[in-house]
Amino acid sequence: GSGKFFVGGNWKCNGTKDSISKLVSDLNGATLENDVDVVVAPPFVYIDQVKSSLTDRVEISGQNAWVGKGGAFTGEISAEQLIDVGCKWVILGHSERRHIIGEDNEFIGKKAAYALSQNLKVIACIGEKLEEREAGKTFEVCFQQLKAFADSISSWTDVVIAYEPVWAIGTGKVATPLQAQEVHVAVRDWLKKNISPEVASATRIIYGGSVNGSNCAELAKQEDIDGFLVGGASLKGPEFATIVNSVT
Ligand code: G3H
Repeated sequence: GSGKFFVGGNWKCNGTKDSISKLVSDLNGATLENDVDVVVAPPFVYIDQVKSSLTDRVEISGQNAWVGKGGAFTGEISAEQLIDVGCKWVILGHSERRHIIGEDNEFIGKKAAYALSQNLKVIACIGEKLEEREAGKTFEVCFQQLKAFADSISSWTDVVIAYEPVWAIGTGKVATPLQAQEVHVAVRDWLKKNISPEVASATRIIYGGSVNGSNCAELAKQEDIDGFLVGGASLKGPEFATIVNSVT
């Protein structure tokens, strides 16, 4: 694998002040292996609560950000604001924003460039839909999504790539370790050919899609899986800690 193991918990649009207070207290009490970057992404309205109660051991991410500087953009949150409330990271290009909200490759690439310009690190998500996989287009789709990031950004130092096959997200149908490894190695190869060998070997490529406490260890053993982006299982503190501690 490449770099330090990275585990992100994407809480999506879940939680209340009470449930988040419980989750934070479970995370504060959990034993987390040292050699792992651990990040959680609460809903925007709870970031301040999490920032003021969660151990500094765990960094905080936004789940999205506006494409440029803030201003008259009702309902949006800017990269500057995420930095202001203590976020180090932002998730961009998540499949739910691509396919439910309708964000396209170019818009997501621009968001990444703007976030990086404000010193917000980016979890850049890619991944194919079931029909695309079945049509043999997995690599083509992932490479197009990667290219859109590459076309907009000038440095990959603060980028983690999250491969999340859409058919595996929230479905309980986790990719097999070999299915994930096959795409991760293809992504690394794409980086090598299209960016540089240095970026290919330094950039972390994490897997997301129905990762849980029972399947994380087998996935983590794969050469090119450098961590996870966890949805549902990140809402349970002890299970999320198990996933963090699957670092090999
Ligand atoms: O960002 C996280 C992914 O969408 C995975 O979600 O673990 O609930 O399948 P999930």
